Amino acid sequence: MEIDLALIGMEKGKQYETIITTKNSDNIQNAAPIGVICSGKDKVLCRIFKGGKTLENICNQKEFTVNITHDPELFMLSTLGNLPEEYFNQDNSIKDIDAYFKCKVVSFKEAVKQSDPIKKKGEAIVIKSEVTELIINNDIKAFNRGFGYVIESLSNYSRFDLVDEDKKQEYIKTFREANRIVRKIGYKKDIASMNAIKNKIKEKGYDV
Ligand SMILES: Cc1cc2nc3c(=O)[nH]c(=O)nc-3n(C[C@H](O)[C@H](O)[C@H](O)COP(=O)(O)O)c2cc1C
Repeated sequence: MEIDLALIGMEKGKQYETIITTKNSDNIQNAAPIGVICSGKDKVLCRIFKGGKTLENICNQKEFTVNITHDPELFMLSTLGNLPEEYFNQDNSIKDIDAYFKCKVVSFKEAVKQSDPIKKKGEAIVIKSEVTELIINNDIKAFNRGFGYVIESLSNYSRFDLVDEDKKQEYIKTFREANRIVRKIGYKKDIASMNAIKNKIKEKGYDV
């Protein structure tokens, strides 16, 4: 299949929530949700904090698989523990997954982004990779978190006038964090929508 990440809705410069599967030298398979940034039609970047199996396996194997799914259970299982063995295919992809691509590491670099709440230097590694194979089993677009934050912020905004001062402050705090993330990972329309909500909250006399 042609390798073009646009086929699974990935745009250059945007981040998508995926499940990365890897294996160790004993062929033990591992899955973990990781944000993957598209940096070209066959290139991706990811930043992985030290201490987990995914980074260790990628450092050792120099390759990994990026699984594209909207299944909350797969995200939940691979965050709260590992996916059970029977969820993995022999080729390291997840069984019945909508789409996946295989990556080969091009470079590793120590890095910490200033906008991140986790700021200790040298805690994360940025991995540049090349896509070597793309398999699409079902029509799917990789998941970008921006839209969810817009909906959540709109939902809170629609209740703003109905809640007490404590809840208003809670909504503002939630909005600030949502806005920080949307500015970092969202599409133009998500960012524009968050700006509009921010202005409306400001019009009500609150500093956001
Ligand atoms: C949606 C989502 C996205 C995540 N993205 C990242 C990421 O980009 N980098 C990272 O280091 N951890 C990320 N995490 C956290 C890892 O998945 C988590 O630390 C996991 O426990 C690592 O497991 P491992 O030891 O199997 O690698 C993310 C978690 C979730 C739920």
